[in-house]
Amino acid sequence: MGEISVENLTEQEARAELARLSAFMRAAEAAYYQADAPNIDDAAYDALKARNLAIEAQFPELVRADSPSKRVGAAPASGFGKIRHEVPMLSLGNAFSDEDVVEFDTRVRKFLSLTEPVRYTAEPKIDGLSLSIRYEDGKLKYAATRGDGEEGEDVTANALHVSGIPQFVENAPVILEVRGEVYMEHTAFEALNKRQEAAGEKPFSNPRNAAAGSLRQLDASITATRPLSFFAYAWGALSEPLANSQNGAIERLAKMGFATNPLTKLCDSPEALIRQYKEIERQRATLGYDIDGVVYKVNDLALQTRLGMRSTTPRWAIAHKFPAETAWTRLEAIDIQVGRTGALSPVARLHPVTVGGVVVSNATLHNEDYIKGLDSKGAPIRDGRDIREGDWVEVYRAGDVIPKIRDVDLSKRENPEPYTFPKACPICGSDAIRESGDAVARCSGEFSCGAQRLEKLKHFVARQAFDIDGLGAKQVQAFVELGWVAEPADIFTLKARYGEALAKREGWGEVSARNLLNAIEARRTIPLNRLIFSLGIRHVGENSGMLLARTYQSWAAFQAAMIAAQPHEGAAWEELNGIDGVGEVMAASVVDFFHTEITRKMVEALVEQLTIEDVLPPDAGNSPVAGKTLVFTGSLSKISRAEAKAQAEGLGAKVSGSVSAKTDILVAGEKAGSKLKKAESLGVQVLTEDEWLALIAQTR
Ligand code: IVH
Repeated sequence: MGEISVENLTEQEARAELARLSAFMRAAEAAYYQADAPNIDDAAYDALKARNLAIEAQFPELVRADSPSKRVGAAPASGFGKIRHEVPMLSLGNAFSDEDVVEFDTRVRKFLSLTEPVRYTAEPKIDGLSLSIRYEDGKLKYAATRGDGEEGEDVTANALHVSGIPQFVENAPVILEVRGEVYMEHTAFEALNKRQEAAGEKPFSNPRNAAAGSLRQLDASITATRPLSFFAYAWGALSEPLANSQNGAIERLAKMGFATNPLTKLCDSPEALIRQYKEIERQRATLGYDIDGVVYKVNDLALQTRLGMRSTTPRWAIAHKFPAETAWTRLEAIDIQVGRTGALSPVARLHPVTVGGVVVSNATLHNEDYIKGLDSKGAPIRDGRDIREGDWVEVYRAGDVIPKIRDVDLSKRENPEPYTFPKACPICGSDAIRESGDAVARCSGEFSCGAQRLEKLKHFVARQAFDIDGLGAKQVQAFVELGWVAEPADIFTLKARYGEALAKREGWGEVSARNLLNAIEARRTIPLNRLIFSLGIRHVGENSGMLLARTYQSWAAFQAAMIAAQPHEGAAWEELNGIDGVGEVMAASVVDFFHTEITRKMVEALVEQLTIEDVLPPDAGNSPVAGKTLVFTGSLSKISRAEAKAQAEGLGAKVSGSVSAKTDILVAGEKAGSKLKKAESLGVQVLTEDEWLALIAQTR
């Protein structure tokens, strides 16, 4: 179908081909989805889809109402297979200044209770995308992108086209997962963009996007035409250790044929790390590929193991970022957005400007004080210069975060009027109230405010929450506007109420409606931690959702405890507050949520629709403390408090900050005081530091 190149099509031919494509692709979708018997393969389908898009781009007036480009969620080749990482792929904490680097080193040594220096590696932070490649018996088995860290996309066929990734390795462990960064060199990037432009395709905005777009190509033959490179810098699952040091392990990977970065250096002090940072920064412009900082890693792998990780970042590594690029532009207007928790967030609408390769037209202005030139404590920022509509401002981007404003040029100011922050919600008109101690004003409309309602629903379906395939922010907004969905429970009754209407909506059709409804059904069963996070309780993020879930384990127990809890008193409050990582502010917010009628009812209606899976503490094998609640008190002499806590959690224990009837074990170091007395009076088992170390040594 369609051999004539798109530029040479007459209008009549284009119209006929679009009609054919629509009918043919609809049949293909039906064969794929309904009959589970595809009549064309994914690559052929993609080629048709691309052809359809190209013709539509050439003849926008001919785009059909039933065009395949408008059908939602009906693309058979809409994705790669998923691969679960045996060892999660972590991200890195950031350092922005020399002081942050010194602090990192101090933190590491404190955790390890070391006074002597720790040795680190320093290496460039490559600005690409990370990849995990698994070898079994020396043969490349599969390659997966990072994804959400737990589960990535299967890009095996594409990885074979990346230089620096061998297909076979010798003298390797039977199971070897090599991790590193896929990137595109500047010369390759420029050549690719020239080809894109010559073919009438959109050029890529930077090498990182080009690398990501090329690796994540469903058609591996396209990847093959895009020169990608790889640096190995880490590993995942291994059947045996590679070495006993970071640099030793990297050297072994280099011997096996992986590309490794030549600027990696061993450093014996934070000062040496900073020297290497400056050296790498000096070479940055001539490297021929993009880097955005320097990564420091503890070199001794035994120490890395002891340091372990926080929920998504290791304690033994940090990324020292290069300062963000900036650009000057005009601030055209200040808009107010209302967020999920009612916060009124001012947004700067900017005259579009390129900052570090990306076009920026919005920047956050944080809050009222920030616009006035004051920080959260009332001290001046930007020497107290305020920001007004019409001002010339300096914009910067740090990594993927929303652009920010660094400074304002008073010499170009024309507007005599300082900005006045609204006293009412611009969406629903309710009073905007700023409570003492809160940096932002909040709309008091709660669920009656359309903006809050919408944002809460968007949060509900977000990736870390319910993550319903095909139900993103845009669809949620459409359903809210139609009046089909007003609260989370409505999503699960959508099928009964509007299933038929959905299939008849423009741009939908039977197949995409069924896909969405099936995706919703698939999420009726949800783990407790995700449910808690999805509720959008103020101060409860993804990690806190997990902490709460691991503590209460079942929805019934969690709900009962929150309803029983009264702020600042009683056993249920004590237990909630005793969870390590839950502070008073979060505890009060959760209790308040369950004691407010509107949110309580919303939750009741939702829970009726769901099957909620219990969350168990992490599997700790033969751990003697799995599922037990521990409290550490007094000073420990052999290991730091932080390390003791991390060990206990790693063995499946809950670590609490206060002793109660629920405490199973108190580990009392020297000079233990009131907690020891309380434990004794409650008959809680008390261990000395040595007894604790002996107990956990059994698990090694
Ligand atoms: S180490 C457990 N080393 O930066 C630590 N990461 O911001 C795993 N990255 O997800 C990462 N260059 O994609 C490491 N030399 C390097 C890196 C590097 C780039 C990326 C990686 C990671 C992200 C974290």
